[in-house]
Amino acid sequence: MDNVKKINDILVNIFNVVLKLEEKAMRESTHRDLSVKELHTLVAIGEGKSKTMSQVAAALKINVSTLTASINRLVKKGYAQRFRIPEDRRIVKIRLTEEGAEAVREHEQFHREMISDAINQIPEDQIGKFIESIDNMNEYLVMRKNPPPKEPGPFRMKPMNLGKVRVPVPLFQGALSIGMSMSRLAAAVARQGGVGVIAAHKIGFREEDFSENPLKANKRVLRQEIKKALELASDAENRGPVGVNIMWSSRHCGEYVETAVEAGAEVIVCGAGIPTNLPGYCRDKKVALVPVVSSKRAANILIRNWTKKYNRMPDGFIFQGPLAGGYLGIKESQIEAAVEDFYKNIADIKGELESLDNCPLIVCGGIYSREDAEKAYAYGADGFQLGSRFVTTEECNACPEFKEAYLKCREKDMTFIAGPEGFPGRVIETPYSARVGEDPRCITQGLINAALGDLKNGLMFCGSKIYKASKIETVADIFREFTLETC
Ligand SMILES: Cc1cc2nc3c(=O)[nH]c(=O)nc-3n(C[C@H](O)[C@H](O)[C@H](O)COP(=O)(O)O)c2cc1C
Repeated sequence: MDNVKKINDILVNIFNVVLKLEEKAMRESTHRDLSVKELHTLVAIGEGKSKTMSQVAAALKINVSTLTASINRLVKKGYAQRFRIPEDRRIVKIRLTEEGAEAVREHEQFHREMISDAINQIPEDQIGKFIESIDNMNEYLVMRKNPPPKEPGPFRMKPMNLGKVRVPVPLFQGALSIGMSMSRLAAAVARQGGVGVIAAHKIGFREEDFSENPLKANKRVLRQEIKKALELASDAENRGPVGVNIMWSSRHCGEYVETAVEAGAEVIVCGAGIPTNLPGYCRDKKVALVPVVSSKRAANILIRNWTKKYNRMPDGFIFQGPLAGGYLGIKESQIEAAVEDFYKNIADIKGELESLDNCPLIVCGGIYSREDAEKAYAYGADGFQLGSRFVTTEECNACPEFKEAYLKCREKDMTFIAGPEGFPGRVIETPYSARVGEDPRCITQGLINAALGDLKNGLMFCGSKIYKASKIETVADIFREFTLETC
């Protein structure tokens, strides 16, 4: 039998068998009155959560009226409840009853046992390769659903201009707070021709005066690090710019922009919020302004806003997909759909930017290897930002314990925490990640603990592909992989 037929038969068979096993498990379970569809609705509501109808409908990819009928039945059977929230009596939400939660737990247990029995058939040392292969296959099927809009031509890392700033190699190093992308890493990336980015968030956390005057400590260290990075990169031939990432949700974001520009930062990257008033803090057009967005809608808001208020256009956009490390700009219930639409969204945003005068699109989130970049390139990415991949470099300012945790992390060791704005952040599971709530102070403390090497009490942001990390490499190794001419 040829390989194509064989793989096709296996996939069809797995699909059918899983469905049948699921039905059988339901017939034998204590919740026999539930259909498979109803059970999946309970899973989409989630244990311990309360959701609106539109959130559940989005997760199930059905419309609200179809869902209403299903929820009515679940309420009648005693598996779900509708309730109004005290802060706004107009909003109706749904949650599971204890019976509903038990049905979900039983179902999850069934899936866990089925998969763990199945993977027991695979030798331990081949599991990593197996996950990588099916993951690749899944991604190609997703790409097939939305083929590239036009023939992209051979993959090339073409130099780009971010406004007046020239970038010889369109590879951005993502900001790694807290204190992990400082001058050493940013300069090493700029020396290779890429965009080296210093993360401003809590950058002064090691300073003595940090707890009594964090703004002062942060600004002082930010200034020092920018100057140091520019100096370290200065003698490199064909160097790339040194940039700063400022989280727009931070209290003094405008002041950090002014400090960074004064100290000589050449690119300002802004994420974690929509930086509608960023140009107000940086009138100098020699500095490139590059917002991070998670949707075409956010890009459009910024374009309209900046044009009207400042007669200025972003000098490039970073589109962050749902596989990224750090906080995501979408809700947890939207992640699955965003993974499916990742390539389509790249093409959509690119389509929007094409009418502008030179506004390159940089893509990030799950870009770990050159192969990942090639796929995004096919849909219109002009450049790429890598966050997690740079953590396991010699030059990264993370402590050895943090890098070691990345090398050990398996796919099942990742989880989400709920960020301050209700947006999820992907982290490596630790005793602390299970305990932490939405309190921003606990989250910051966890991030600081991890940065100092206390992993048990720490939070470690990570991208979804870090299970691929197997060794400490150099920044030059990464640039070599991405820029190597193959023909
Ligand atoms: C440890 C860590 C810290 C991060 N800190 C920040 C940050 O301070 N600001 C920000 O905008 N993004 C931050 N990010 C996101 C990265 O800059 C980058 O966009 C993301 O990691 C890209 O996804 P990838 O990890 O799959 O490459 C962080 C990511 C990681 C892994």
